[in-house]
Amino acid sequence: MSLALPEFRPGTVWLVGAGPGDPGLLTLLAAHALAAADHVVHDALVDRRILALAAPGAELESMGKRGGADSPKQAAITARLIELAQAGKRVLRLKGGDPFVFGRGPEEAQALAAANIAFRIVPGITAGIGGLAYAGIPVTAKECNSTVTFVTGHGPDGDLPPDVDWDKLGAGSQVLVFYMAVRQLEKLAARLIKAGRPGTDPVALVSKAASPDQAVLISDLERIAADAAARPLPAPALIVVGPVVGLASVLDWWDGA
Ligand SMILES: C[S@@+](CC[C@H](N)C(=O)[O-])C[C@H]1O[C@@H](n2cnc3c(N)ncnc32)[C@H](O)[C@@H]1O
Repeated sequence: MSLALPEFRPGTVWLVGAGPGDPGLLTLLAAHALAAADHVVHDALVDRRILALAAPGAELESMGKRGGADSPKQAAITARLIELAQAGKRVLRLKGGDPFVFGRGPEEAQALAAANIAFRIVPGITAGIGGLAYAGIPVTAKECNSTVTFVTGHGPDGDLPPDVDWDKLGAGSQVLVFYMAVRQLEKLAARLIKAGRPGTDPVALVSKAASPDQAVLISDLERIAADAAARPLPAPALIVVGPVVGLASVLDWWDGA
């Protein structure tokens, strides 16, 4: 294949999405950046098989935010990117999924712009679309929904975000895809029922999507919290609510290989 891809110039930062897990979901630009980067600053969600595609002499540095107490502060991450670029490195900031979907990519790009560092954004396949496809759940299907909404379950204090109008959200979107929401699952399900969604609304919890360890729990709004407590699934995980979940019984295709 011959395809003219842009040069990764020294002293610049590429902010790249690595997709939800399966290395085959990397974009051509992401693979090109991995082969050319001097320094890769990656977050905790990036699969080891993807990091293995970095050039042999490249430095790999984990600066993942995990929501835990010892996560690096966002300011330290952006300062590091700026420092490396100013030292003339080709800096690859590699993030899980898409860098502009619930991933602090915009903050990092803003900091680079403020420091006059040239940067490029390479979108990736977000977990809430590509990861769900690996569980046989399309985010839209003609017979099911005309709307889908992506929502974070993690507000500034770790609780459900206070700036969401939960009544309107519950009533207004046929399909809801929640990121970072598993810890709030019980509260979330109760809030959506209070907003008028039926307790029988289908719900799926999709853990480690698009990886060999993917696991899917299918339930409904009324029972999901109890079912997830009885069968805890590891992070990262997504929650999807709405009629498209029903298609997984036919479209479930991923065998982990
Ligand atoms: C900080 S957000 C980053 C999202 C990422 N930028 C994206 O576009 O997919 C982390 C959340 O994404 C979801 N997530 C990311 N990768 C996942 C995967 N492989 N399987 C399930 N959920 C995933 C989980 O909800 C996790 O808590």
